[in-house]
Amino acid sequence: MDIQKVGVVGCGLMGSGIAQVAAMAGCHVVVHEVTAELAQKGFARIHGSLAKLVEKGKLPADAAEATKARLKSTTQLADLKECDLVVEVIVENLDAKKKLFAELGKLCKKETIFASNTSSFPIGEMADASGRPERFVGLHFFNPVQLMKLVEVIRGAKSLPDVVESTRAFGAKVGKSPILAKDTPGFVVNRLLVPLLHEAVLMVERGDATFRDIDTGMELGCGHPMGPIKLLDYVGLDTTLSILEGWHARFPNDPLFKPSALLKQMVKEGKLGRKSGKGFYEWEGDKVKG
Ligand code: 3HC
Repeated sequence: MDIQKVGVVGCGLMGSGIAQVAAMAGCHVVVHEVTAELAQKGFARIHGSLAKLVEKGKLPADAAEATKARLKSTTQLADLKECDLVVEVIVENLDAKKKLFAELGKLCKKETIFASNTSSFPIGEMADASGRPERFVGLHFFNPVQLMKLVEVIRGAKSLPDVVESTRAFGAKVGKSPILAKDTPGFVVNRLLVPLLHEAVLMVERGDATFRDIDTGMELGCGHPMGPIKLLDYVGLDTTLSILEGWHARFPNDPLFKPSALLKQMVKEGKLGRKSGKGFYEWEGDKVKG
């Protein structure tokens, strides 16, 4: 199937990025949010990003206008019924995701492919809840979606090969390099990345090195664009903690997944990183202060 019409459920940071790259690639995109205000906020983020691309000479102004014209918002799930692909990008809550897919399963045409952008939940449970597990995959983008070149396509136990292939082709169409992964915890990238970020927190907790030196070590020693503590701040301490907690609940005997006291304490204090203006670093928008 050549995916032309895309539904995106959730227009937060990731959802707006996914809607944007799909519309830039020529797809018609219907974005669902629970309120018109939230949709407006997401669209403002998209318009800001498009303006930045135009300003940098990376996108012609008329292409930005055409992209905007391909984006529609709605608060009615039924408006997604004709989509070839619906990507779920709502809050990381498995029950909420299962409920959403059960509803979409009843509303959407039978050919519609369902995809979840979950960073940590198993695809299988959501696939079963949708009532069409053979047309269900994971489609995991990376933050910031507009710039990161990777997308993971996760094959569920029951996903049909042509559904996986159509979704992989969609990933390539929106300018990403897709990699295929099985439905294992963290898929490929987060399975490696989250323990790395967490080990850096444990190093700070033990007093092995300062968080700035840990970051300098990985930036200059390994060529990472952001050291692990900066990246943790960038991704969100709460997001990382919720991934670890989910894995720890499923695999209580694996010490790698046991969240550190420092991480839990900082989340409790509202030090969530970039999104709250303070984590290990102080943030001003997308940049570390000072
Ligand atoms: N839209 C359009 N343009 C944007 C943009 C956006 N949203 N954000 C930044 N830009 C532009 C900037 O204007 C800039 O343009 P220029 O080069 O022409 O001046 C360019 O993109 C680069 O931006 P910055 O100046 O902010 O550049 P950096 O060189 O510092 O790069 C970065 C920023 C790409 C975020 C880089 O620091 C990086 O790669 N960091 C690591 C990010 C990462 O690892 N992400 C994955 C997180 S894990 C994840 O998402 C999974 C989840 O499940 C947890």
